[in-house]
Amino acid sequence: MIENSRILVTGGAGFIGSNLVEDLLSRNNEVVVLDNFSTGKRENLQLFANDRRFTLIEGDIRDYKTCQKAVDGVEYVMHEAALCSVPLSIDDPMLVTDVNIGGFVNVLYAAKEAKVKCFAYAASCATYGDAEYSPKVEDRIGKPLSPYAITKYVDELYAMNFHDLYGINTVGLRYFNVFGRRQDPYGAYAAVIPIFAMRLLSLTSPVINGDGSFSRDFTHVSNVVLANNLALLSKDEKALNQVYNVACGESTSLNQLFEALKSALAQIKPEIAGISPVHGPERVGDIPHSLASIDKISSLLGYKPVMMFEEGIKATAKWYVDNLVDK
Ligand SMILES: NC(=O)c1ccc[n+]([C@@H]2O[C@H](COP(=O)([O-])OP(=O)(O)OC[C@H]3O[C@@H](n4cnc5c(N)ncnc54)[C@H](O)[C@@H]3O)[C@@H](O)[C@H]2O)c1
Repeated sequence: MIENSRILVTGGAGFIGSNLVEDLLSRNNEVVVLDNFSTGKRENLQLFANDRRFTLIEGDIRDYKTCQKAVDGVEYVMHEAALCSVPLSIDDPMLVTDVNIGGFVNVLYAAKEAKVKCFAYAASCATYGDAEYSPKVEDRIGKPLSPYAITKYVDELYAMNFHDLYGINTVGLRYFNVFGRRQDPYGAYAAVIPIFAMRLLSLTSPVINGDGSFSRDFTHVSNVVLANNLALLSKDEKALNQVYNVACGESTSLNQLFEALKSALAQIKPEIAGISPVHGPERVGDIPHSLASIDKISSLLGYKPVMMFEEGIKATAKWYVDNLVDK
């Protein structure tokens, strides 16, 4: 794991970013966060606000000068800043393209100018698009199903191209349905686990889109933290300038997710045990199944998930109870 280094985490006020920052600060790193708080939260940074090794730059990755300031003296970059909602990208493709591609290129170019040792960036399983085979392997993608998916794939192309042109080392990490503490349950574009948790905690039935048989490779955020560290520290030429799935390689249906979350929350709040879900219509464009092969990241980066779904959902349920009830 990275220690005694200076790292830029873009999007550090967000769900995944703040987990990366917390982990880095626990090992005597200096951390710079660049965030514009568009979806990130100040309270996600509260824990480290007074840590002298922590610097916050409030600004936008669409502004190149801000990116130049953020990479100053930095050895590694973890690039998480993005607008990461598929529905938002359908509602406002221009905005999402600006941030996810324009902003990405700014941070990448600034990182190359600053001669960082390595640039890890959040890619996405959305890049597999309509590919139907399973489990997904990195070099076989399908047709993208949203502007968001396109932006994430274009980022991969830029990263590869910048390595070829300028020699910067990059690693793309295609996260699969990440969950864990500080994932935002509020807003129109919230993800399924926080939405279910909040509904169960308010003793209301969650809505499952479709019959609940659709499945995902739900990945606890601690695995994402590990993958970022392994990626940035890799010295193996074959392992750098690649993209990797970051997941558990384990399939969980929405019905199984509902049951697991309900039972974890009911341990703490027993009245939740009696709640049943409501089934709504399938969401347009939802792919039925998404499961990762983690062979590539295991063999080239030595990755092994540190927390599987069952344990992760228990820890996350506890976090929602401790942090969000009565707020
Ligand atoms: N959560 C998942 O399941 C998942 C899956 C695949 C990929 N990803 C990727 O992981 C990354 C982090 O996602 P997350 O779930 O933590 O989302 P998040 O919304 O919690 O975090 C994104 C952060 O980026 C910041 N940001 C957005 N636009 C910005 C801009 N123009 N300038 C500066 N900062 C900006 C936001 O304020 C926020 O703090 C994203 O790149 C996302 O696409 C997430």
